[in-house]
Amino acid sequence: MSRVAVVTGAGSGMGVAISQHFAARGDRVALLDVNGAAVEEVTQRLRDGGAEAISCQVDVSDRRAVFEAIETVRTELGAVEIIVTSAGIEAFVPFLEISPESWERMMAVNLTGTFNCLQAVVPDMLAGGWGRIVTISSSSAQSGTKNMSHYVASKGGVIALTKALAIEYAPHGITVNTIPPGFIETPMAHRPIEAGLLPSMEELIARTPVGRAGTPDDIAAACAFLCSEEAGYITGQLIGVNGGWYL
Ligand SMILES: NC(=O)c1ccc[n+]([C@@H]2O[C@H](COP(=O)([O-])OP(=O)(O)OC[C@H]3O[C@@H](n4cnc5c(N)ncnc54)[C@H](O)[C@@H]3O)[C@@H](O)[C@H]2O)c1
Repeated sequence: MSRVAVVTGAGSGMGVAISQHFAARGDRVALLDVNGAAVEEVTQRLRDGGAEAISCQVDVSDRRAVFEAIETVRTELGAVEIIVTSAGIEAFVPFLEISPESWERMMAVNLTGTFNCLQAVVPDMLAGGWGRIVTISSSSAQSGTKNMSHYVASKGGVIALTKALAIEYAPHGITVNTIPPGFIETPMAHRPIEAGLLPSMEELIARTPVGRAGTPDDIAAACAFLCSEEAGYITGQLIGVNGGWYL
């Protein structure tokens, strides 16, 4: 069955692969990202491959813009049935040097952005009696990690929000799960490695039991399953896609 799926952060990294997986199985996909040029390019590639897909340039922290974008999705593709929230930012700063402004921005994008997107789409899922929600959190919120306390706190909030919504919406046919990725090779992971803020690629791989970096497709495959008909009895779960990291 073709579903209407929204993917945030669809202009780069995991969001691209998640959108591709939904398109490949015949879903109608709305790709949202603050980087309008990047997300339009990804969307055009999906359309060239025969998919029904639209792009929306939107900052997920801008509540009004999110609600307008979702209204466009409804008009052009139909009521939203699936959402994966992959939009996110990271930063590496010792705790005492985090400014109130950068704390607020981290929360605004990673946590309030997730809140905004989910509030915009859940009414469609309630009306349809069916929904699949996957938030992208982070393994760092399970293990803790240094110099990222604002990021880790925002992702801890995403995990808690996911669990709360799973209970609230379970009676309505809506499942809500989170994927806390480990180390996944995307632009977000490459930037701090190149800047010397994370260990080298070789060291990160050596710490990973399966012996390789994760790929965006590893995340997308798990998302596709969690957003399938068959996954209806899985809700409120953290599905680690992390190559076996001990957390
Ligand atoms: N790559 C990893 O190793 C890793 C590990 C754990 C968690 N994550 C999480 O996975 C998610 C995807 O990360 P990625 O590695 O694909 O990163 P990425 O930087 O490649 O992609 C993130 C996308 O989000 C978009 N974005 C950023 N701020 C936005 C905003 N305000 N509104 C809308 N879009 C916005 C960016 O433009 C970008 O296209 C993020 O939430 C990240 O925190 C990544």
